[in-house]
Amino acid sequence: MAPELATPADIGELAAAHARAWRETYPGIVPDDVLANLNPAERAITWRGVLARGGRIRLVRRDGAVVGFGATGPQREPALMPYPGEFYAIYLLRHAQGQGLGRALMAAMAADLLDQGMAAANLWVLEGNAAATAFYTALGGRPVHSRTFTEGAWRGRDTAFAWDDLSRLLAALPGHAASAGDSPHRPG
Ligand SMILES: CC(C)(COP(=O)(O)OP(=O)(O)OC[C@H]1O[C@@H](n2cnc3c(N)ncnc32)[C@H](O)[C@@H]1OP(=O)(O)O)[C@@H](O)C(=O)NCCC(=O)NCCS
Repeated sequence: MAPELATPADIGELAAAHARAWRETYPGIVPDDVLANLNPAERAITWRGVLARGGRIRLVRRDGAVVGFGATGPQREPALMPYPGEFYAIYLLRHAQGQGLGRALMAAMAADLLDQGMAAANLWVLEGNAAATAFYTALGGRPVHSRTFTEGAWRGRDTAFAWDDLSRLLAALPGHAASAGDSPHRPG
């Protein structure tokens, strides 16, 4: 099923899936205390803000339940302004991985960015996330920037993977995930 556009009503469930995906993905990469203290309510504030600013979030559901999501919108990092768009996140719960849903989400997100006039974009991968790095590399993403960040006592490092031409990325992905007549949510 094509990833659907999220509305504010979906954000609570999405935020819970986001926190669960972090706990599944990041042991050994993100400090245990950060994972133990993840707060879906804080995530929900972030994702509601993305929707309120015109960003788009795509959901993958299975048997009605959210099993993954991806979010896109304008670039946030000053050092990466040559890339007008950003993939803010892409997460699938473990049981939904390796079945093509990540590629379907990337296709829907690339189409959303192109639809909003953003022809190039990046995303951020935490150092040590080898599986995601392999996924993006297989899709033609290339590392263009690294940074160190602090969040509380956690000092982490992540790398920007970028696509110079999202239409080429889209062409390399299976089908076109956004269904016809699917209109973006416009808050307000
Ligand atoms: C990374 C992620 C989005 C990929 O989505 P997915 O649905 O699992 O991947 P797909 O099934 O669509 O595509 C798999 C393809 O990606 C590549 N790939 C994915 N995982 C890989 C791995 N561990 N090693 C090598 N290649 C990999 C392969 O090219 C593979 O192609 P193949 O099926 O022909 O072998 C998903 O696994 C995920 O959410 N992981 C946990 C959360 C996460 O790390 N998110 C990214 C944060 S930056």
